[in-house]
Amino acid sequence: MEKNSRIPFNKPFVVGKELFNIAQAVMNGSISGDGEYTHRCQEWLETHLRTPKALLTHSCTAALEMAAILAGVEHGDEVIMPSFTFVSTANAFALRGAKPVFVDIREDTLGIDERLVESAITPKTRAVVAVHYAGQPCAMTALTEICRRHNLTLIEDAAQAILSENEGSALGTIGDLGCLSFHETKNVISGEGGALLINNPNLIERAEIIWQKGTNRKSFLRGQVDKYTWVDIGSSFLPSELTAAFLYAQLEHARRINSHRRALYAKYVDLLTPLKQIGLLGLPFLSADGPANAHIFYVLCKDTLQRSALIAHLDHNNISAVFHYVPLHSSPGGLKFGRSQGDLSVTNDVSGRLLRLPMYSEMGAGDVRRVCSAIADFFKADLSTLSN
Ligand SMILES: Cc1ncc(COP(=O)(O)O)c(C=O)c1O
Repeated sequence: MEKNSRIPFNKPFVVGKELFNIAQAVMNGSISGDGEYTHRCQEWLETHLRTPKALLTHSCTAALEMAAILAGVEHGDEVIMPSFTFVSTANAFALRGAKPVFVDIREDTLGIDERLVESAITPKTRAVVAVHYAGQPCAMTALTEICRRHNLTLIEDAAQAILSENEGSALGTIGDLGCLSFHETKNVISGEGGALLINNPNLIERAEIIWQKGTNRKSFLRGQVDKYTWVDIGSSFLPSELTAAFLYAQLEHARRINSHRRALYAKYVDLLTPLKQIGLLGLPFLSADGPANAHIFYVLCKDTLQRSALIAHLDHNNISAVFHYVPLHSSPGGLKFGRSQGDLSVTNDVSGRLLRLPMYSEMGAGDVRRVCSAIADFFKADLSTLSN
């Protein structure tokens, strides 16, 4: 990349075979959902993530909405989740008339703090949602145990976590249900796109009905019934074959995509660690297993004011950096539909200081170096403190 060209925050990319696959799908004669490419993607997910059933959806938002129905969440129920997450995590349950109950996150992984979950449980609690922020696993062993003890459905919002693992199990396959995103900002993309992983075999039959607009079309296609009809609530949750065809090309390269991102992540860590060591900024927690799928790379500034100044400085250097989330518990929707448990001090603190740096598949080590040099310049740090 030329020295002064813009380094975007994200850039959707193609691995090569996407358009060929789309042409194939068109020539197959049917481009609505549940066709050959949908089946290939679902098989890929079932095999590579090791889960009994995957259903493609048109977004992770849709997968979460399916999960809310499958968990039996109803009006007046409560669902425990972090506040530091994307709006869809909560909206899926608010749509069923349930109350999101927001608990704080851990300071290291920025995932839901499992030590706070039990005190948020009431007789109305129906489910717990673990959001694997940046692809880093939540404390799944503890959460699984809590849900088992209290007979709650465990749902993983693994929107950011394709191919990340926790103790050898792929994220999204540990809870009863797991939700993935293939939105263009994710590691593996199809524009809009997602998948529901149904890890609890008891939920598979109903999932197929909800997926197909509340009909038993799947049983009909298998020859198990001679007409298909409306049997349950549901919606049009499936994507078209055009989306699935694009996605299949990406899935075939998913591991390569993640390993390139991990190399970029390692470069960021390498270059920015000297700044961390002299107390100028905070870096993400690095587990012994490394940076999972390197979905997000972020730094922690001193405060919101410093973050705004750093964003402006990077922008001046033709580099885009963004922050998230506006915590759900303090958003108008969160105040209207949810309730907070505890003071959410980590959420409030982190959301005011976290800054996401550019990270995308076409990025090179030189781009990472340029971002880090601009950050060092902002802190007036000696560039020679940055390693190669
Ligand atoms: C944690 C989380 N959950 C859910 C979603 C929604 O995903 P989608 O855009 O595929 O609906 C996102 C998207 O960014 C996310 O980050």
